[in-house]
Amino acid sequence: MFTQPQIAPSILSADFMNMSADLVEIEQGGAGYVHVDVMDGHFVPNLTLGVPFCKQIRTATGLPFDVHLMISNPLEQLPWFLATKPDIVTVHMEALDPELDQVNQAIDMIHEAGVKAAIALKPDTDTATLAPYIHKLDMVLIMSVYPGFSGQSYIPGSHERVAQVVEMSRAAGVAPLIQVDGGLGENQATFDVVSAGADVLVAGSAVFGKQDRAAAISAMLQVAHDAQAKTAAGLGPSAQVGNVDGERAH
Ligand code: DX5
Ligand code: ZN
Repeated sequence: MFTQPQIAPSILSADFMNMSADLVEIEQGGAGYVHVDVMDGHFVPNLTLGVPFCKQIRTATGLPFDVHLMISNPLEQLPWFLATKPDIVTVHMEALDPELDQVNQAIDMIHEAGVKAAIALKPDTDTATLAPYIHKLDMVLIMSVYPGFSGQSYIPGSHERVAQVVEMSRAAGVAPLIQVDGGLGENQATFDVVSAGADVLVAGSAVFGKQDRAAAISAMLQVAHDAQAKTAAGLGPSAQVGNVDGERAH
């Protein structure tokens, strides 16, 4: 039922003056992906990394990278990002008009470039909007904070949205990866989203905010494995892990 959980450190929280060393550290520390948060200052208030960064990241790490596009005009900019050969590209549902078939166009454009396609949902967007596309997606990204900034608190109950996507996928006979982004760490939020079926855990401050990035990744993986084991043993989400950073109940 569960896949091997993976940690995707968000490079947005790395040391921009020491990026190569940070990438080596997370690669050696057991990260599964590098998560690249692209923000355009319009779809979200913040402005971050872009195409030149994505072009260079391949030279600095062997890790697969996923590009989370928080931009207003993904159909126009996708060709540039796809040219950087990412492993997964995620576009936001809210930036696409389903009436104009833009969601299908974006997914198809990503696939035609030989890249895995994901759709992200902001916390207020109904998971039911994914239904017409779920069979075409390699991954779904459930935002557990309002996109725009790292270091925010997990929005309680986001794991229920993960469970809704699991259910929808099961009903459709597919199993896209489920990524969760925002407020995760060695905490109850990670336990709950993994219990609900999340596979890929984005972590910005919880990894790069720590001196020892490998230890931070291991600690999150430990919570994730714990969550899978307890859920498989019939214990549901919540209440098994202390929600204080660094302190887990047994
Ligand atoms: C938020 C970004 C996240 C963020 C995660 O808009 O998409 O990837 O950087 O940061 P933390 O893990 O610190 O919440
Ligand atoms: Zn992100």
